[in-house]
Amino acid sequence: MICLGIESTAHSFSIGIVDDSGRVLASIIDMYRPPHGWGIHPAEAAKHHEEVKDAVLEKALEEAKIKLEDIDLISFSQGPGLAPCLYKGLNFAQELAEKIKKPLLGVNHCISHIEIGRLKTDLKDPITLYVSGANTQVLGFISGKYRCFGETQDIGIGNALDKFGRGVGLDFPAGPKIEQMARSGKYLELPYVVKGMDLSFSGILTAALQKFEKGTSKEDICFSLQETCFAMLTEVTERALAHTGKNEVLLTGGVAANKRLQDMLHIMCKERGAKFAVVPKEFAGDCGAMIAWLGLLMHKAGIKTKNEVLPRQRTDEVGIGWL
Ligand code: ATP
Ligand code: FE2
Repeated sequence: MICLGIESTAHSFSIGIVDDSGRVLASIIDMYRPPHGWGIHPAEAAKHHEEVKDAVLEKALEEAKIKLEDIDLISFSQGPGLAPCLYKGLNFAQELAEKIKKPLLGVNHCISHIEIGRLKTDLKDPITLYVSGANTQVLGFISGKYRCFGETQDIGIGNALDKFGRGVGLDFPAGPKIEQMARSGKYLELPYVVKGMDLSFSGILTAALQKFEKGTSKEDICFSLQETCFAMLTEVTERALAHTGKNEVLLTGGVAANKRLQDMLHIMCKERGAKFAVVPKEFAGDCGAMIAWLGLLMHKAGIKTKNEVLPRQRTDEVGIGWL
């Protein structure tokens, strides 16, 4: 069985084609890039998705060396995400499913990050640290649901890095550039904000920008920003391991590419005797392949969904019939 998955929650419009053995036959990603100095405007990102969707589909079918008629199932990101972008994905998915008369499934974006991570690593039942632009969550499977043990109370870690970058003149996305500049920086104190199992990044961001305005070196702030934010993420992840008794950590999302974050988590896991794995970069960011794979898992479990978008859908609202 072959599933075509459509991802359109935020800036990326992506189509992945995956078979039921977990082989990724195609993964095409087209990312909306806002003009220099701007953040993502939902309507502009949605316009981008509308413009590129046919070309992305054509490239995906070409890469998979199949025709649209060979697809057995279509899945799309139902949420959470930006409503105008989600609608572009739903509408296109509906159009394709009607054309080839095949079933259509809406999947949860965050859970698809976990499931492609389990597929692409040897982890079975991990605590997942999902760190992307808009999301920062610590997730784990307990009593039939993926539960969120801790999350950001304001902005996602990636957005915090990008906003800092915008404030100091770095191009979007700023994460990789901050990582590079941090290599030659030294530590300065920034607010460390963990509340129970939740995190907050907006105060740190403000403090970091204030330091820049006062003339502190960009390198030092980049280093301190990483040390502070990543130590917070590592602390909450470790506590989730301790609370649940699990012994695996999966790191995913666009920020998972960061070597310093990987190192901190690796050290923490080693000290606890836990396994640690990072989702390969091509599947750690938003991609249609993760949507297709979750579509297959849900279809196999006999799950049906409505043709609707759920911009605020929570991870623990979703029944997990496939585990
Ligand atoms: P979401 O998954 O929440 O919809 P998104 O599409 O914005 O959000 P991703 O594509 O998963 O997220 O990740 C993009 C984010 O990853 C950006 O904020 C970017 O700055 C960050 N990022 C990419 N590489 C690195 C890196 N090496 N270090 C830190 N952050 C990074
Ligand atoms: Fe994502």
